Amino acid sequence: MNVTISDAVKYIGVDDKTIDLFESQYVVPDGVTYNSYLILDEKVALMDTVDARGMDEWEQNLKAALGDRKVDYLVISHLEPDHAGSIARFMELYPEAALVGNAKTFQMLPQFFEVDADRELITVAEGETLSLGAHTLHFYMAPMVHWPEVMVTYESSEKILFSADGFGKFGAMDAEDDEGWACEARRYYFNIVGKYGAPVQALLKKAATLDIQTICPLHGPILKENLGYYIDLYDTWSSYKPENTGVLVAYASIHGNTAKAAEKFAEMLREKGEEKVVVSDLSRADMAEVVEDAFRYDRMVLAAASYDGGVFPCMQDFLHHLQSKAYQNRKVGMIENGSWGPTAGRSMKAILETMKNVTILEPMVTIKSTMKDTDLPAMEQLAEAIVNERI
Ligand code: FEO
Repeated sequence: MNVTISDAVKYIGVDDKTIDLFESQYVVPDGVTYNSYLILDEKVALMDTVDARGMDEWEQNLKAALGDRKVDYLVISHLEPDHAGSIARFMELYPEAALVGNAKTFQMLPQFFEVDADRELITVAEGETLSLGAHTLHFYMAPMVHWPEVMVTYESSEKILFSADGFGKFGAMDAEDDEGWACEARRYYFNIVGKYGAPVQALLKKAATLDIQTICPLHGPILKENLGYYIDLYDTWSSYKPENTGVLVAYASIHGNTAKAAEKFAEMLREKGEEKVVVSDLSRADMAEVVEDAFRYDRMVLAAASYDGGVFPCMQDFLHHLQSKAYQNRKVGMIENGSWGPTAGRSMKAILETMKNVTILEPMVTIKSTMKDTDLPAMEQLAEAIVNERI
């Protein structure tokens, strides 16, 4: 894929369209990119390598962009194997190149690779610079903008921010984004970086001090225009504010009866004027997509069957995902189903109560096996409570 950045800054990343699950957990129907960049100046800097799955193609791209030159510096923004997976190969190819990282990078590096004792390691700290000639790299630490060793690099002559996982997105470079950049960027953000809102906020504050004209992330397209749009979305996402007004109705149904109640409840919300209601079947939907929607909208309704004295496992799994991604600041309603002693509500509540600023709206609706006319008043009451909390 030919991606142009500038005369001196070359894209040498690769698409991965054959991976079944990114990080062994996320479906990527349009693939994913592992981005890597080369800056050609008096000195040559390589900005990250790629996953070992793309190593051969990346090596070809690297050699083609270099011509007869050699790499002087490898800047390691992030040691996760989707970016660092070709560092060992890089070290074989360029025995004289220096590795550039921070103290944490070099603390963790030997966990992944053997590094020869004579390899030059340049340890950089917050705000330090490295001159390549006309280009100057400025390093900013971004701990926990996914991993503790993450740093971003600002190149001041071309005003480029190499943003590591920040502003990353699922999808190969040629993916058709019918729903725009935000759809797969949001799914990526909440599932991969979502837990780390505070560190992302800290990074955004640093970025606000820089004049940025281009963002080069480690996944997905290079961003060159309308950067305020992307930065504003990151601000919303990382501060755990809802992005859109709407209700996610997520259900866990064994034989379809809880599903019917959830669909009926969604209909009630729409009849009460709720414009955006998204219904998801947790047994079958992409869990990462439902997690994304939970963060996207301001309210959520959980409808679940009772199971083994608790809640049907896919609902428990969903709530654990939300819990681990620091779901917070939302209003939640619950519908439980049970044929003898309903336990789903109690189990869901126990998990929701561990979350910050999650308000459970009353009443919780209890259905016995199948929804009946006698259940409708309580459902109407809960629907009213949900609609009344619209922001
Ligand atoms: Fe794309 Fe955290 O690695």
